[in-house]
Amino acid sequence: MEKQRLDKIIASTGKWSRREVKALIRQGLVLVDGVPARSAEEKADPGAARIEVKGEPIAYRRYTWLMLNKPAGYLSATEDGRGATVLDLLPEELRRQGLFPVGRLDKDTEGLLLLTNEGGLAHDLLSPKRHVDKVYYTRVAGRLTEADCAAFARGITLPDGLVCRSAGLEILSAGEESEGRVTLREGKFHQVKRMLAYLGKPVLYLERIKMGNLPLDLSLSRGEFRFLTDSEVESLRAQVDSLEKP
Ligand code: URA
Repeated sequence: MEKQRLDKIIASTGKWSRREVKALIRQGLVLVDGVPARSAEEKADPGAARIEVKGEPIAYRRYTWLMLNKPAGYLSATEDGRGATVLDLLPEELRRQGLFPVGRLDKDTEGLLLLTNEGGLAHDLLSPKRHVDKVYYTRVAGRLTEADCAAFARGITLPDGLVCRSAGLEILSAGEESEGRVTLREGKFHQVKRMLAYLGKPVLYLERIKMGNLPLDLSLSRGEFRFLTDSEVESLRAQVDSLEKP
């Protein structure tokens, strides 16, 4: 692996800012292969060198994968003149890493949003050919019925010609307002809202609760994020590899 500056390698873990790394180096708390580092500009091969901070080896990852519990009010974009984006919820050091959201949630949609700088796997996760399930909890106005579930299962062609393929709709509660669980295998613009509005059940609330085999981590409060573990990233990779290729 190519050599990189120590401050860049250590800050990429998201635990320390570059400024903090400099201070740690001054205090002799950063070791590279057992030898105290002298400067933040010193370079090391993150794949080969053993880098320790305060006695703990750092877990360097080539790519960063985060799970964010998105709150309402943030755009799923990397920059936008019109308002706050999900990147505004991350610390400076992570914002510098070229992270982007894996797909979009509407501004008012909450829940699981992955962010990464690994383009290949992100692309595969979003590909309609791979059929990675995205699961949503929704509350709608009106009574959800078995006929609505059947319409989802058949697939719906919207009046503007947009074809929404077969999707899952499970009724969790039915009344003047109803709750349901929707499973999509594609991600067209406003798809859940448009499918339900077409059936006369406008969405009042939408939250993504699962992507592929990865459920929303309920220990994350809205607006909080965590790093995916290596095994979570590998299981996403294994899942897209096992699905139909384009
Ligand atoms: N479908 C929608 O309508 N909105 C979202 O944010 C995600 C899926």
